[in-house]
Amino acid sequence: MKEVNKEIALVTGGASGIGLSMGKRLAEAGMSVVLADIEVPILEEAVEELKGLGHKAMGVHCDVSDINSIEEMKTRIEEEFGHPKVVCLNAGVGFASSISEATLSDWEWVMGVNLWGVINGLHTFLPAIKEMGEGHIVITASIAGHISVPNLGPYNATKFAVVSIAETLRQELLAENSKVGVSCLCPGFVSTNIFDSERNRPENLLNSSADESTEEELLLREAFMEWISANAKQPAEVAELVYQAISDNKFWIFTDDQHLNGVKSRHSSIVSGDELPWPTPPLIDL
Ligand SMILES: NC(=O)c1ccc[n+]([C@@H]2O[C@H](COP(=O)([O-])OP(=O)(O)OC[C@H]3O[C@@H](n4cnc5c(N)ncnc54)[C@H](O)[C@@H]3O)[C@@H](O)[C@H]2O)c1
Repeated sequence: MKEVNKEIALVTGGASGIGLSMGKRLAEAGMSVVLADIEVPILEEAVEELKGLGHKAMGVHCDVSDINSIEEMKTRIEEEFGHPKVVCLNAGVGFASSISEATLSDWEWVMGVNLWGVINGLHTFLPAIKEMGEGHIVITASIAGHISVPNLGPYNATKFAVVSIAETLRQELLAENSKVGVSCLCPGFVSTNIFDSERNRPENLLNSSADESTEEELLLREAFMEWISANAKQPAEVAELVYQAISDNKFWIFTDDQHLNGVKSRHSSIVSGDELPWPTPPLIDL
């Protein structure tokens, strides 16, 4: 979509991290931007920041895992702004656990936000975009949608699923000669608040007995966060790639070439029938 100026963009998970940077980049391109998020205080700050920079912006409190909440958001956006032509289905939560230890509440929370958030978003916004005859959908997946990273089972499952949704939608729209574009964003590590995702976990999906972290786990987390601040990409760099992909109607958006080796190793093992490489390859060298 070459001409985004004066059009409306919606970014879910727009109050923080990658979503907030996407919102800023699209606003700089002249779009009116709707940031949707479950975390109200930072959402209000983000909208004020955009308005302070002279951009047209609005914030909507929304839980993407809840179809009623998304439909209410759609009504509010239409009343205040109109129909979004660019929709970035980006809200997501990170969660680390082995498959053996993940509880049903863990699965339900992560699937609700990362997978149902995308399904609900497409169900609600795609028909109007198709009817307008032009637009672009960005689905935020992850490199974890291509490599089954150990101890991220529920997260990997949601990201593999949304990669497939994005690929299928792309092909269906191309087959219809639609001018609606699709991009699939597959970041490696990005320096955001995702590592503190539990802050937004609903009470009804908390585990009844949360184990205290051991000293060793706390040290490992500290080392991991240090590694992230030294090595991870910045959200603004990712947002620039997203903006270019929307402009050029480019499907894949990968942020780190080094992770593509892991994708190649996985695909080789599928084709050859050999054992999966372990780890696939080390994503972090702590
Ligand atoms: N940061 C990374 O390293 C990384 C890597 C790959 C993919 N991603 C993906 O990028 C996307 C954005 O994450 P981020 O890294 O910017 O993290 P972030 O925590 O900074 O931002 C995520 C946003 O989603 C919002 N959110 C959470 N649950 C929600 C819900 N139920 N309804 C609406 N909003 C909700 C949060 O409040 C937050 O503002 C996610 O889909 C994530 O899986 C991130």
